[in-house]
Amino acid sequence: MGNRKKIVTVKVPATSANLGPGFDTLGIALNAYLEVKLKLYENDKIIYHGEGQETISLNIKDNYVYKAIRLLFEKAGQNSGVHLEINNNIPVGKGLGSSAAAIVAGFFAANELIDNSFTAEELVNWAVQLEGHADNIIPAVYGGLTTAMIYGDQVYYQKITLPEELQIIVVVPDFNLPTEKSRSVLPAQLNLTDTVSNLQRACFLLASIFNGDLTHINKAMDDMIYQPLRKQFVPGFDEVLTAAKSNGAVGTALSGAGPSIIAFATGKPDGIGEAMKTALLASNIDSRIYYLHPDQKGIHLQTESI
Ligand code: HSE
Repeated sequence: MGNRKKIVTVKVPATSANLGPGFDTLGIALNAYLEVKLKLYENDKIIYHGEGQETISLNIKDNYVYKAIRLLFEKAGQNSGVHLEINNNIPVGKGLGSSAAAIVAGFFAANELIDNSFTAEELVNWAVQLEGHADNIIPAVYGGLTTAMIYGDQVYYQKITLPEELQIIVVVPDFNLPTEKSRSVLPAQLNLTDTVSNLQRACFLLASIFNGDLTHINKAMDDMIYQPLRKQFVPGFDEVLTAAKSNGAVGTALSGAGPSIIAFATGKPDGIGEAMKTALLASNIDSRIYYLHPDQKGIHLQTESI
């Protein structure tokens, strides 16, 4: 099985999950990418460049790209070595879907290399099982703004196209926040009033974006359930949101499990990022500002004969 004479290149976007009220449900793909080149090889050789290089290179076989490739090969009964080159531009451990991108890249690249034995639905379901969060996996695969639904043991999704003029500002603090730690403060039970508020806001947010009317999304993105609990991990969180809004952001949220913070804007976004960075600095947190756009396509696969 497999063609020893091809090289597969896969590019997968960063993602921001939750978008405020859509916890474990909504996600958006962003134009910062993980790129992977994969070919069959006599033994495993892995080269890693970019974000996470210092830490990930130390235990490269624990890397999610490699793990997903091996899992896929196991399912296909393939045990050849691989030559894997990873170039990562997605900040790692910052709530921007770096693990989801790695897992998606691994499964899809490996499947392409061994001649597409599995369907995209199978790959997506395995990716969600391995990563744990459909709200990052789905936009990484399909792009745009997506809403994921787990029903039984299957993942279903819908995608909506984002307004062209949407600008995205992400402020990435210089510390990591592991997802397990960020999830450890989630409540075991929810209050009905907060739950209903979140449902109203999540539906309102989706309909606003679908209709291209962003007038009230700042209110719709004001999560009642987990952000109030998670913000203890991001010093200056409220001040960053206020700074973004008072400089023209139309919506703000903790990005995924954090610690990054995402803001939406429709006009020139420059002042917003600076204001968010300054607000974090007031709490002694340094950060990087990313000015991004939605990625509308998702995974990009290319195969070359060699
Ligand atoms: N929805 C998940 C969370 C995303 O917020 O914990 C984790 O990447």
